[in-house]
Amino acid sequence: MNIVSTTREIKKMIKDYKKQGKTIGFVPTMGFLHEGHLTLVSKSGSDCDITIMSIFVNPLQFGPGEDYDRYPRDIERDIELAEKAGVDVLFTPDVNELYPAEPSVSVKAVERTDVLCGASRPGHFDGVVTVLSILFNIIDPDKSYFGQKDAQQVAVVKGLAGSLHFPTEIISVETIREQDGLAKSSRNVYLSDQERTEAPVIYQALKTASEIYMTDGSNAAIEHFKHELSTVSGDIDYIEILTYPELQVPSESDTRLIIAAAVRFERARLIDNIIFTTEEETACSDQ
Ligand code: PAJ
Repeated sequence: MNIVSTTREIKKMIKDYKKQGKTIGFVPTMGFLHEGHLTLVSKSGSDCDITIMSIFVNPLQFGPGEDYDRYPRDIERDIELAEKAGVDVLFTPDVNELYPAEPSVSVKAVERTDVLCGASRPGHFDGVVTVLSILFNIIDPDKSYFGQKDAQQVAVVKGLAGSLHFPTEIISVETIREQDGLAKSSRNVYLSDQERTEAPVIYQALKTASEIYMTDGSNAAIEHFKHELSTVSGDIDYIEILTYPELQVPSESDTRLIIAAAVRFERARLIDNIIFTTEEETACSDQ
């Protein structure tokens, strides 16, 4: 595995790969890798000739008072995990490399950002689309891989690639979970032992609420979620049911929905979601 930290070096490498006709898969991350990240790598490995992973804790997507300074970092461990998972090139720029000067233009996410994390973390998705625009321009990947755990991010990034005509296909990958259902996250290390035993309730409650939605509708589903979460020490930041990927309030005719929640524990804010369809499975028959 090659480890590269300058844009000059990685651009040269990519030029060579392209000359050889190799396809490039890209997995952007903020590091402190876990099986969720590594699943994106393995999907890229099966689709593309070369897999490039970036590790960059992007200051622009953290608001004031958020956890930028104490975001977990362990580059030595990440290098080992990335190499084992089959990453060909690990791109580890520092802040000055990606943002060498005050930018003279900015990228702003204007759709799908007034709900969920967009509403509770103002400016967050502007930071995400800005860093991804820079990374897409540097790496010019054929395919880019994102986890469905951050479902709103997937929706916003599809909007970014479409609106700005980035010639990369955005591929989303299912959420990887611990055995007890808790979605894997770099931030799980900040849960206390007590919180760690409580946190799987988020996924359980989302599952039950999505079933309740089918029979009793949105209010009953959300009330159920709140009731189940009342047993845990974390506070609900949001719980919403919306259309996916448009992230609009659903009407009766909408069939593809997301139920998504954020819960604040003492030192970690966790998010999770389930995408579900309200359509009856219709058996195909050619008679
Ligand atoms: P980060 O939180 O490090 O996540 C990197 C990628 O891994 C994202 O696409 C995320 O959705 C995916 N991922 C995280 N946990 C997952 C899980 N349990 N199952 C499946 N995929 C999972 O998301 C970011 O970084 C940043 O916003 C970034 C896109 C790198 C821009 O800075």
